[in-house]
Amino acid sequence: MRVLVTGGAGYIGSHTTLALLEAGHDVMVVDDLSNSSPESLRRVAELAGRAPEFVLANVRDEAAVDGAFASFRPDAVIHFAGWKAVGESTEIPLTYYRENLGSTITLLEAMAKHGCSTIVFSSSATVYGDLSEPPFTEDSPTGATNPYGRTKHMIEQILADASAADPRLSVGVLRYFNPIGAHESGRIGEDPRGIPNNLLPYVAQVAAGRRDHLTVYGDDYETVDGTGVRDYIHVVDLAAGHLAALNHLADHDGFHVWNLGTGTPISVLEIVRAFEKASGQTIPYEVAARRAGDVAASYADAHLAEDELGWRADKTVDEACVDTYRWQSANPNGFQAADA
Ligand code: NAD
Ligand code: WQD
Repeated sequence: MRVLVTGGAGYIGSHTTLALLEAGHDVMVVDDLSNSSPESLRRVAELAGRAPEFVLANVRDEAAVDGAFASFRPDAVIHFAGWKAVGESTEIPLTYYRENLGSTITLLEAMAKHGCSTIVFSSSATVYGDLSEPPFTEDSPTGATNPYGRTKHMIEQILADASAADPRLSVGVLRYFNPIGAHESGRIGEDPRGIPNNLLPYVAQVAAGRRDHLTVYGDDYETVDGTGVRDYIHVVDLAAGHLAALNHLADHDGFHVWNLGTGTPISVLEIVRAFEKASGQTIPYEVAARRAGDVAASYADAHLAEDELGWRADKTVDEACVDTYRWQSANPNGFQAADA
């Protein structure tokens, strides 16, 4: 299959591009490198033994996207490109609406023009917000509590409307829970710019001595140990979920939503202990107030993806911590050294 991957230089996109190449698919990545480095794709090529095609462009750029479709003639699209920092989205909401909604509409119009009818979209468990109690099924109520989450919720609705209007479209919305880990080679991984917002990259930087302690946001939730619980899914399992979705969509049209999670709730302190075991380092931490906007618990009911896609997450949080630490230790400054 010929797969156009937007945002393919990023964290999840690079792991998925590698999985696609390894499975024998041809890949074109369209990425503006606004939150990633070209080094990630050089390493994907090194690991796969062949390179994806690459177009340096914003997915809102109609001419560039039209050119990419005309030259590559994709059978399917996986749409990762988007801005993703929840806190930042409350400060510059218009940028989030422009980038995330604009890129999706440009992409859907190019697909219609060029007769490409399959799209897999990166949504997020953030759409379940605090509207119900986990485990969340795909039928749980959705909404959002911040501009980033609203872009995901709105894009899901745009995709549903586009699908209703064009019965030939095959749409797979993947609601990721909390992606963590790195490829087992230690060559590609998550490379956040500045101070990490997310738990795992922060913990990894503490273990590596780049930051002196972790701040635990709240230990007074009604959870196993009072800290927030999440469903942490290894990025290599997540990448495999995209291939399973493409496979399913090849002979199912219409609009589909699948949770990609493990179904297992894990607390912040359980992550700290798993990372200490994986790294052999102590992770000093201090408990602070709850972080605004956080929910106590978020985890998937992951049965639908297993039943319909034949996919389930295999890797454990312990393995993800080992893989994250390998990546962090081998690349203490992410891809930056290679870029210099
Ligand atoms: P990432 O920032 O590492 O990757 C996104 C990539 O898209 C980057 O390479 C960036 O340069 C590119 N990009 C952004 N806007 C673009 C645009 N308009 N045109 C072209 N390229 C653009 O993020 P990630 O963690 O790999 O996330 C991928 C997708 O999954 C995003 O849509 C994100 O919202 C979604 N998601 C991520 C998580 C998570 O925790 N990482 C959870 C749920 C959903
Ligand atoms: C996990 C847990 C924190 C950092 C976010 C987005 C979500 C999705 C994934 C894109 C929580 C605690 C964290 C720290 C901590 N992204 N924590 N100290 O908030 O579940 O989800 O990323 O779609 O939309 O909201 O992930 O990794 O930030 O937090 O105690 O320094 O770790 O309170 O309980 P979250 P996270």
